Amino acid sequence: MTEKERARARAIVRQHLVQGDALGWFEALYAGAAGDAAIIPWADLMPNPNVIQWLDQHQVAGAGREALKIGCGLGDDAEELARRGFSTTAFDISASAIAWCRRRYPQSPVAYVVEDLFRAPSAWQGTFDFVLESYTLQVLPPSLRRAAISHIASFVAPHGTLLVVSRGREPDDSQGEMPWPLTKEELTDFLRLGLREVSIEDYLDDEVPPVRRFRVAYHREA
Ligand SMILES: C[S@@+](CC[C@H](N)C(=O)[O-])C[C@H]1O[C@@H](n2cnc3c(N)ncnc32)[C@H](O)[C@@H]1O
Repeated sequence: MTEKERARARAIVRQHLVQGDALGWFEALYAGAAGDAAIIPWADLMPNPNVIQWLDQHQVAGAGREALKIGCGLGDDAEELARRGFSTTAFDISASAIAWCRRRYPQSPVAYVVEDLFRAPSAWQGTFDFVLESYTLQVLPPSLRRAAISHIASFVAPHGTLLVVSRGREPDDSQGEMPWPLTKEELTDFLRLGLREVSIEDYLDDEVPPVRRFRVAYHREA
């Protein structure tokens, strides 16, 4: 992503935030891109390497298991989960993003659906063996994160796994502009919601310049 695209996205964010609308900018961004992925700051058109690395390290196989991708964007991570055998549902608040996924992957086994995390179907509660949250929490203003975390946690089935990958910061680091990195303290909310932390990694990734990431795996007991 170039600085020009990042600045354009941030201008759209600001326009919506001053109107008290923290979620409307996603659809504005995808619709305004008119099929040009270079306009979407996070769209690399490949699965997230921080996710791939974890899936490989843990030899994750999805046959006979259900996965849910939170905020799927243009679908690369969801397709990766399906490729590994998961029966995969992927959702995004942006109708334009979901239409774009369907155009990119017309034969896909992934169920792509338009849904708002904060109004997700009650049928999803406790349903998914593997839930993947990569980079959505960090584009939600901190004021919405506690509610977002609560919804994400609710989707994990008994014995299921949740993988969260986000930008990370210390509590006294500046939040800066979108994407707003998370603190470890914010992530402890998942523990209050009945999940057990299996592992937490705090590292600099391979981007140039490197980005501090938190990668956390949680398990729900029976
Ligand atoms: C930073 S992007 C990451 C997309 C994808 N995970 C990736 O890594 O390319 C966050 C995505 O979450 C979606 N999103 C934001 N708020 C959402 C909400 N309340 N419900 C569902 N999706 C949401 C956005 O539309 C966007 O596609």
